[in-house]
Amino acid sequence: MDIGIDKIGFYTPKKYIDIVELAKARNVDPDKFTIGIGQSKQSVPMQYQDSVTMAAEAADQIISDDDNIGLVIVGTESSVDESKAVAAFLTDLLNLPKNIRAFEIKEACYGATAGLKMAEGYVALNPDKKALVIASDIARYGINTPGEVTQGAGSVAMMVSQNPRILKFDHEEVYMTKNVGDFWRPTFSKTAFARGKFSNQVYVEFFSELWKKYQTDFNQTVNNFDTMLFHIPYTKMGMKALKTLKDETDLDKFAELSEHYQASIKMSREVGNLYTGSLYLGLISYLINGDPKPGEKILMFSYGSGAVGELYSVTIQPEFRRILDSEKIKKVLNNREKISISEYENIFAKDLQNGDSINDSDVFDKFYLREIKESERLYKKIKL
Ligand code: CAA
Repeated sequence: MDIGIDKIGFYTPKKYIDIVELAKARNVDPDKFTIGIGQSKQSVPMQYQDSVTMAAEAADQIISDDDNIGLVIVGTESSVDESKAVAAFLTDLLNLPKNIRAFEIKEACYGATAGLKMAEGYVALNPDKKALVIASDIARYGINTPGEVTQGAGSVAMMVSQNPRILKFDHEEVYMTKNVGDFWRPTFSKTAFARGKFSNQVYVEFFSELWKKYQTDFNQTVNNFDTMLFHIPYTKMGMKALKTLKDETDLDKFAELSEHYQASIKMSREVGNLYTGSLYLGLISYLINGDPKPGEKILMFSYGSGAVGELYSVTIQPEFRRILDSEKIKKVLNNREKISISEYENIFAKDLQNGDSINDSDVFDKFYLREIKESERLYKKIKL
């Protein structure tokens, strides 16, 4: 039985900052941010947004009444509660059926991949059911930190089913876990702690080690792939891993892989880091901005600091162009409003506190955090 991704939805907040303006505000040469890091814009979530509201926005785009959903998994490292899962909040926001399993997975940027693999197993045992896997995160390092330029926010929702119409999982996968201190966020902190340069190094080491194992286990070489997609914390990062393969192939093949990589980073350049959704935003970007062909095999590199890595392959399905709503996805990116660096700093400083509430009239999204009452987060859906 073929199992894979049948539908994909994407959401990012409607406000963004310009990266050149951020560089100027931080007294940094703009080329460092636009070329050295490779970003152009960064999405800024509003006070009423979090991993719950963004997950609802992305999933709302792909859920239909005839989906027989039995499992909902949210991968996130910006969870809103230590006990209650983001997926549980979604059940009434999205009118999900009662008889489902709904929970959250955390392992930094690997969470959504873990969810997809679990969903694959679930559909294998329950072929008439579908599993909704959502990656939803706010990447936050803090004002004037080295990581600030690599912030971002957004969500990718994926429906996993049998006979998928976008991508099929190939059952070719290798994975590894090591206890590494490259990046972490303690429960007391809203912002992440990163050993930036070390994290770059561990990312590339994981890719190299997994690639060796993948080749051995599945008897493959670089020449078997036209496209490799990477977790993209910032758009230059995946290229650091791709470059390690330069000596394993000829110039033409490497140029093709690089061209496809460029198509995969177009959207991340405009949004920033989605943490666990970044690899899947790269996938969407490649499917929309590249030259993908039905039957094409893609190698996916998922990396979550801390650290778990997985390398696995998928195959593009014949109907993918009809199913992926590229116009809707492009609209999400194009219908955004630029805000100034000081506006962004103000938003960054103001989290909704216990006792605070939000007026409908201040909201320009469908789902929002309405109130925090007795420390409980209460959400609302606006009928647009
Ligand atoms: N023009 C062009 N390029 C310039 C430049 C200029 N004027 N000035 C500097 N650069 C280049 C540098 O040469 C460097 O290029 P290379 O990476 O190719 O060497 C690049 O710009 C960045 O410069 P620095 O290394 O000096 O930048 P930095 O010290 O400010 O830190 C960072 C960069 C480590 C990525 C930092 O932003 C950070 O800590 N980010 C958060 C952690 C992170 O994203 N890690 C990625 C791997 S971990 C992961 O993937 C999980 C996750 O999602 C977090």
